[in-house]
Amino acid sequence: MNILMICLGNICRSPLAEGIMKTKVPADFLVDSAGTISLHEGEHPDKRAIKTAANHGIDISSQRSRPITRRDFEIFDKIYCMDIDVFEDVISKAKNEAERQKVSLFLEVLGDHKNAEVPDPYWGSMEDFEKVFQLLEKGCNEISNQILK
Ligand code: 4NP
Repeated sequence: MNILMICLGNICRSPLAEGIMKTKVPADFLVDSAGTISLHEGEHPDKRAIKTAANHGIDISSQRSRPITRRDFEIFDKIYCMDIDVFEDVISKAKNEAERQKVSLFLEVLGDHKNAEVPDPYWGSMEDFEKVFQLLEKGCNEISNQILK
């Protein structure tokens, strides 16, 4: 099972989601992340994301930002989007129904969070990053429960 996490810049939310998800699935799962924009391509995650992950014993410091590509729709089985704008952007790149079926809003896995978005912490504080971490942790737990059952 190959899982891709997507946000806007691929330096805050989806790198955290990738780092958390990797702790929940067997090592032979491919877990990666990407962004819908290439503004931060090649950059490591935001320092606050790195610190927040490190506070929870997860090292995301070697990740590098990259934009989503057409190939991702072939490689990955599940593509989780952090907010509705990201979801709409990713869905617009899907070429057929099979590809569209792979794409969902990350927080939909938590039934009571229908249409909920993982808030963008980029303009926020360390506290906002920690809140995002907690949301992502909940979602990743549920995804791994669903996938591994
Ligand atoms: P992310 O956060 O999508 O969670 O990585 C952002 C990163 C960069 C920008 C916006 C959001 N930006 O505007 O550069």
